[in-house]
Amino acid sequence: MRKKIVAGNWKMNKTFAEGITLTNEIIDGLKNSQHQCDQVILCTPFLHLQKVSELCNEEYVLHTAAQNCHTENSGAYTGEISAFMIQSVGATHVLVGHSERRMYNAENNSMLAKKVDIALANQLTVVFCCGESLEIRNAGNHIAFVNEQIESSLFHLSKEAFKNIVIAYEPIWAIGTGLTASKEQAQEMHFQIRAKLNSGYGEEIANETSILYGGSCNAQNAKELFSQPDVDGGLIGGASLKAADFLTIIQSF
Ligand code: 13P
Repeated sequence: MRKKIVAGNWKMNKTFAEGITLTNEIIDGLKNSQHQCDQVILCTPFLHLQKVSELCNEEYVLHTAAQNCHTENSGAYTGEISAFMIQSVGATHVLVGHSERRMYNAENNSMLAKKVDIALANQLTVVFCCGESLEIRNAGNHIAFVNEQIESSLFHLSKEAFKNIVIAYEPIWAIGTGLTASKEQAQEMHFQIRAKLNSGYGEEIANETSILYGGSCNAQNAKELFSQPDVDGGLIGGASLKAADFLTIIQSF
Protein backbone atom coordinates (compact mmCIF):
# COMPACT_ATOMS: atom_id res chain seq x y z
CA MET A 1 0.00 0.00 0.00
CA ARG A 2 1.37 3.37 -0.93
CA LYS A 3 1.81 5.90 1.86
CA LYS A 4 -0.53 8.79 2.61
CA ILE A 5 1.75 11.77 3.10
CA VAL A 6 1.35 15.42 4.04
CA ALA A 7 4.47 17.56 3.65
CA GLY A 8 4.75 21.17 4.76
CA ASN A 9 7.15 23.31 2.73
CA TRP A 10 7.99 26.30 4.89
CA LYS A 11 10.01 27.86 2.03
CA MET A 12 11.98 30.93 3.28
CA ASN A 13 9.79 31.57 6.32
CA LYS A 14 10.11 31.41 10.12
CA THR A 15 12.92 32.54 12.37
CA PHE A 16 14.61 29.72 14.26
CA ALA A 17 12.45 30.34 17.36
CA GLU A 18 9.25 30.53 15.31
CA GLY A 19 10.10 27.28 13.54
CA ILE A 20 10.63 25.46 16.83
CA THR A 21 7.34 26.82 18.19
CA LEU A 22 5.51 25.65 15.06
CA THR A 23 7.12 22.20 15.30
CA ASN A 24 6.11 21.85 18.96
CA GLU A 25 2.54 22.90 18.14
CA ILE A 26 2.38 20.29 15.37
CA ILE A 27 3.76 17.58 17.68
CA ASP A 28 1.21 18.46 20.39
CA GLY A 29 -1.57 18.49 17.81
CA LEU A 30 -0.59 15.08 16.46
CA LYS A 31 -0.44 13.60 19.97
CA ASN A 32 -3.93 14.85 20.72
CA SER A 33 -5.71 13.93 17.50
CA GLN A 34 -6.64 11.01 15.28
CA HIS A 35 -5.49 10.85 11.68
CA GLN A 36 -4.93 8.38 8.86
CA CYS A 37 -1.69 9.91 7.64
CA ASP A 38 1.32 7.57 7.26
CA GLN A 39 3.93 10.32 7.13
CA VAL A 40 4.08 14.02 7.92
CA ILE A 41 7.19 15.71 6.56
CA LEU A 42 8.40 19.15 7.65
CA CYS A 43 10.45 20.73 4.85
CA THR A 44 12.27 23.39 6.84
CA PRO A 45 14.99 25.89 5.95
CA PHE A 46 18.48 24.38 6.49
CA LEU A 47 18.84 26.46 9.63
CA HIS A 48 16.07 24.59 11.46
CA LEU A 49 16.79 21.11 10.22
CA GLN A 50 18.87 19.67 13.05
CA LYS A 51 16.67 20.88 15.91
CA VAL A 52 13.41 20.05 14.14
CA SER A 53 14.75 16.56 13.31
CA GLU A 54 15.52 16.01 17.00
CA LEU A 55 12.04 17.15 18.05
CA CYS A 56 10.40 15.00 15.37
CA ASN A 57 11.90 11.87 16.94
CA GLU A 58 9.10 12.22 19.51
CA GLU A 59 6.37 11.42 16.97
CA TYR A 60 6.70 8.30 14.80
CA VAL A 61 4.78 9.85 11.90
CA LEU A 62 7.02 12.93 11.63
CA HIS A 63 10.01 13.31 9.32
CA THR A 64 12.12 16.23 8.15
CA ALA A 65 13.23 17.31 4.70
CA ALA A 66 15.57 19.88 3.27
CA GLN A 67 14.15 22.01 0.48
CA ASN A 68 17.15 21.54 -1.80
CA CYS A 69 20.60 19.97 -1.98
CA HIS A 70 23.71 20.48 -4.11
CA THR A 71 24.83 18.09 -6.87
CA GLU A 72 28.09 17.32 -5.00
CA ASN A 73 28.81 15.97 -1.50
CA SER A 74 31.42 18.59 -0.57
CA GLY A 75 33.77 21.14 -2.05
CA ALA A 76 34.34 24.80 -2.81
CA TYR A 77 30.70 25.81 -3.33
CA THR A 78 30.22 28.83 -1.09
CA GLY A 79 26.75 29.07 0.40
CA GLU A 80 25.63 25.59 -0.65
CA ILE A 81 24.50 22.58 1.41
CA SER A 82 24.96 18.94 0.37
CA ALA A 83 22.84 15.83 0.80
CA PHE A 84 25.72 14.37 2.82
CA MET A 85 25.40 17.27 5.30
CA ILE A 86 21.59 17.09 5.33
CA GLN A 87 21.49 13.43 6.33
CA SER A 88 24.15 14.08 9.00
CA VAL A 89 21.69 16.19 11.02
CA GLY A 90 18.92 13.58 10.98
CA ALA A 91 16.80 14.68 8.03
CA THR A 92 15.37 11.81 6.00
CA HIS A 93 13.98 13.53 2.89
CA VAL A 94 14.84 16.29 0.44
CA LEU A 95 12.75 18.23 -2.06
CA VAL A 96 14.26 18.20 -5.54
CA GLY A 97 13.05 20.27 -8.46
CA HIS A 98 10.65 22.67 -6.78
CA SER A 99 9.38 25.09 -9.44
CA GLU A 100 10.70 28.07 -7.47
CA ARG A 101 14.22 26.63 -7.72
CA ARG A 102 13.74 25.78 -11.39
CA MET A 103 12.61 29.38 -11.93
CA TYR A 104 14.93 31.45 -9.67
CA ASN A 105 17.99 29.19 -9.63
CA ALA A 106 17.89 27.93 -13.22
CA GLU A 107 17.66 24.28 -12.18
CA ASN A 108 17.09 22.09 -15.21
CA ASN A 109 16.15 18.46 -15.71
CA SER A 110 19.70 17.16 -16.09
CA MET A 111 20.97 19.02 -13.02
CA LEU A 112 18.00 17.64 -11.08
CA ALA A 113 18.88 14.10 -12.17
CA LYS A 114 22.28 14.62 -10.48
CA LYS A 115 20.61 15.94 -7.32
CA VAL A 116 18.33 12.91 -7.25
CA ASP A 117 21.35 10.59 -7.51
CA ILE A 118 23.36 12.24 -4.77
CA ALA A 119 20.34 12.43 -2.44
CA LEU A 120 19.61 8.73 -2.89
CA ALA A 121 23.31 7.90 -2.44
CA ASN A 122 23.03 9.62 0.96
CA GLN A 123 19.98 7.56 1.94
CA LEU A 124 17.57 10.47 1.59
CA THR A 125 14.09 9.92 0.18
CA VAL A 126 13.53 12.32 -2.72
CA VAL A 127 10.31 14.29 -3.03
CA PHE A 128 10.55 15.12 -6.72
CA CYS A 129 8.51 18.17 -7.76
CA CYS A 130 7.06 18.63 -11.21
CA GLY A 131 4.37 20.81 -12.76
CA GLU A 132 3.50 23.00 -15.71
CA SER A 133 3.00 26.74 -16.22
CA LEU A 134 -0.36 28.16 -17.25
CA GLU A 135 0.90 28.76 -20.80
CA ILE A 136 1.79 25.10 -21.17
CA ARG A 137 -1.59 24.00 -19.77
CA ASN A 138 -3.50 26.40 -22.00
CA ALA A 139 -1.64 25.02 -25.00
CA GLY A 140 -2.77 21.53 -23.97
CA ASN A 141 0.80 20.31 -23.40
CA HIS A 142 0.71 19.83 -19.63
CA ILE A 143 0.73 16.05 -19.57
CA ALA A 144 3.57 15.72 -22.08
CA PHE A 145 5.54 18.40 -20.20
CA VAL A 146 5.24 16.73 -16.79
CA ASN A 147 6.01 13.32 -18.30
CA GLU A 148 9.18 14.78 -19.78
CA GLN A 149 10.24 16.28 -16.42
CA ILE A 150 9.80 12.87 -14.79
CA GLU A 151 11.51 10.92 -17.55
CA SER A 152 14.53 13.26 -17.80
CA SER A 153 15.30 13.45 -14.10
CA LEU A 154 14.15 10.06 -12.79
CA PHE A 155 14.01 7.38 -15.46
CA HIS A 156 17.72 6.57 -15.28
CA LEU A 157 17.07 5.11 -11.80
CA SER A 158 16.89 1.39 -11.09
CA LYS A 159 13.59 -0.09 -9.93
CA GLU A 160 15.10 -0.55 -6.47
CA ALA A 161 16.18 3.11 -6.28
CA PHE A 162 12.76 4.28 -7.43
CA LYS A 163 11.26 2.92 -4.19
CA ASN A 164 12.80 5.98 -2.50
CA ILE A 165 11.02 8.48 -4.72
CA VAL A 166 7.87 10.43 -3.87
CA ILE A 167 6.38 12.60 -6.61
CA ALA A 168 4.79 15.99 -5.94
CA TYR A 169 2.70 17.44 -8.75
CA GLU A 170 2.59 21.21 -8.30
CA PRO A 171 1.09 23.18 -11.18
CA ILE A 172 2.97 26.50 -11.17
CA TRP A 173 -0.23 28.48 -11.75
CA ALA A 174 -1.66 27.11 -8.49
CA ILE A 175 1.34 27.87 -6.24
CA GLY A 176 0.71 30.74 -3.86
CA THR A 177 -2.08 32.06 -6.06
CA GLY A 178 -5.15 30.73 -4.23
CA LEU A 179 -6.05 29.12 -7.56
CA THR A 180 -6.16 25.41 -6.69
CA ALA A 181 -6.35 22.74 -9.35
CA SER A 182 -9.84 21.25 -9.35
CA LYS A 183 -10.11 17.72 -8.04
CA GLU A 184 -10.64 16.57 -11.63
CA GLN A 185 -7.52 18.36 -12.88
CA ALA A 186 -5.45 16.93 -10.03
CA GLN A 187 -6.79 13.42 -10.54
CA GLU A 188 -6.22 13.57 -14.30
CA MET A 189 -2.57 14.51 -13.92
CA HIS A 190 -1.90 12.07 -11.06
CA PHE A 191 -3.46 9.27 -13.12
CA GLN A 192 -1.21 10.20 -16.06
CA ILE A 193 1.88 10.31 -13.84
CA ARG A 194 1.05 6.85 -12.53
CA ALA A 195 0.59 5.64 -16.11
CA LYS A 196 4.02 7.08 -16.92
CA LEU A 197 5.56 5.22 -13.96
CA ASN A 198 3.82 2.06 -15.15
CA SER A 199 5.34 2.44 -18.61
CA GLY A 200 8.84 2.89 -17.17
CA TYR A 201 8.83 0.59 -14.15
CA GLY A 202 5.73 -1.59 -14.24
CA GLU A 203 2.65 -1.91 -12.12
CA GLU A 204 4.25 -2.47 -8.71
CA ILE A 205 6.26 0.78 -8.74
CA ALA A 206 3.33 2.68 -10.27
CA ASN A 207 0.97 1.49 -7.54
CA GLU A 208 3.42 1.92 -4.65
CA THR A 209 4.73 5.43 -5.44
CA SER A 210 3.01 8.19 -3.49
CA ILE A 211 1.98 11.15 -5.66
CA LEU A 212 1.26 14.36 -3.72
CA TYR A 213 -0.63 17.41 -4.93
CA GLY A 214 0.67 20.92 -4.21
CA GLY A 215 -0.61 24.39 -5.06
CA SER A 216 -2.93 26.37 -2.81
CA CYS A 217 -3.95 23.19 -0.98
CA ASN A 218 -5.46 24.29 2.32
CA ALA A 219 -7.65 23.28 5.27
CA GLN A 220 -10.80 23.89 3.20
CA ASN A 221 -9.98 21.97 0.01
CA ALA A 222 -7.61 19.21 1.20
CA LYS A 223 -10.37 16.66 1.84
CA GLU A 224 -11.78 16.96 -1.66
CA LEU A 225 -8.35 16.70 -3.28
CA PHE A 226 -7.21 13.79 -1.08
CA SER A 227 -10.41 11.87 -1.87
CA GLN A 228 -9.23 11.39 -5.47
CA PRO A 229 -8.00 7.85 -6.12
CA ASP A 230 -4.53 8.86 -7.36
CA VAL A 231 -3.91 11.72 -4.91
CA ASP A 232 -1.93 10.34 -1.97
CA GLY A 233 -1.58 13.57 -0.02
CA GLY A 234 -0.25 17.07 -0.36
CA LEU A 235 2.81 19.30 -0.45
CA ILE A 236 1.61 22.37 1.37
CA GLY A 237 3.15 25.85 1.28
CA GLY A 238 1.33 28.75 2.92
CA ALA A 239 -1.10 26.61 4.91
CA SER A 240 1.75 24.68 6.53
CA LEU A 241 2.90 27.79 8.41
CA LYS A 242 -0.02 27.69 10.87
CA ALA A 243 -0.25 24.59 13.06
CA ALA A 244 -4.07 24.56 13.18
CA ASP A 245 -4.42 24.65 9.38
CA PHE A 246 -1.66 22.12 8.84
CA LEU A 247 -3.20 19.73 11.41
CA THR A 248 -6.60 20.02 9.68
CA ILE A 249 -4.93 19.08 6.39
CA ILE A 250 -3.25 16.08 8.07
CA GLN A 251 -6.71 14.97 9.23
CA SER A 252 -8.20 15.27 5.74
CA PHE A 253 -7.82 11.62 4.60
P1 13P B 1 1.20 27.06 -1.62
O1 13P B 1 0.51 25.97 -0.84
O2 13P B 1 1.53 28.25 -0.80
O3 13P B 1 0.44 27.37 -2.89
O4 13P B 1 2.63 26.46 -2.09
C1 13P B 1 2.67 25.21 -2.64
C2 13P B 1 4.09 24.80 -2.75
O5 13P B 1 4.85 25.35 -3.54
C3 13P B 1 4.58 23.75 -1.86
O6 13P B 1 5.84 23.31 -2.22
